[in-house]
Amino acid sequence: MHIDPAVYVRSAIRSVPDWPKPGITFRDITPVLQDPRSFRVLIDLFVYRYMRQRLDLVAGIDARGFILGSVLAYELNLGFVPVRKKGKLPFQTVAEEYSLEYGNATVEMHTDSVRPGQRVLLIDDLIATGGTMVAASKLLQRLGANVIEAAAIIDLPYLGGSQALKDTGLPIYTVCSFD
Ligand code: PRP
Ligand code: ADE
Repeated sequence: MHIDPAVYVRSAIRSVPDWPKPGITFRDITPVLQDPRSFRVLIDLFVYRYMRQRLDLVAGIDARGFILGSVLAYELNLGFVPVRKKGKLPFQTVAEEYSLEYGNATVEMHTDSVRPGQRVLLIDDLIATGGTMVAASKLLQRLGANVIEAAAIIDLPYLGGSQALKDTGLPIYTVCSFD
């Protein structure tokens, strides 16, 4: 491939104006997943970044972090654990509430999903205000995890989330950004 892989992935992201509310431009990753080449280029970017990190687990955030995180965990020969929206997990849970670019929400994890000291990669499709990633990393830390990095395809830096995450001391990796 002659084009930068991150540029290739970025070019496959669809921007949908005024969705889900007027004034929000939704960055839609479904075309990246639908095209086998951009899907592979994307996952390979994450695989090469994390293959030598001695990770124990990948934690993916509901819902698009499940798609990325499960494929990545499989490729890295790691287990996958879900960070789910409230009320979906059947066993004992820990919960964190947070605010979004367009509303409020709560994420939960099973209390036995991580063992203390495990090296965990946290992954989602996008960082906007950072509220979801902060809440998920708090959950992981409450369970004793060592969160090695928070990864996403897209950063929306104008919303301040990636900076807020960096300010908490959590390393961040994003493939591309939109102004
Ligand atoms: C989106 C996106 C991230 C989150 C980022 O999910 O997939 O999880 O918002 O926003 P933040 O940085 O401001 O927290 P959303 O909550 O819309 O849920 P969905 O996956 O069910 O669409
Ligand atoms: N989650 C929060 N803001 C978003 C956006 N602009 N596009 C896609 N997902 C989002």
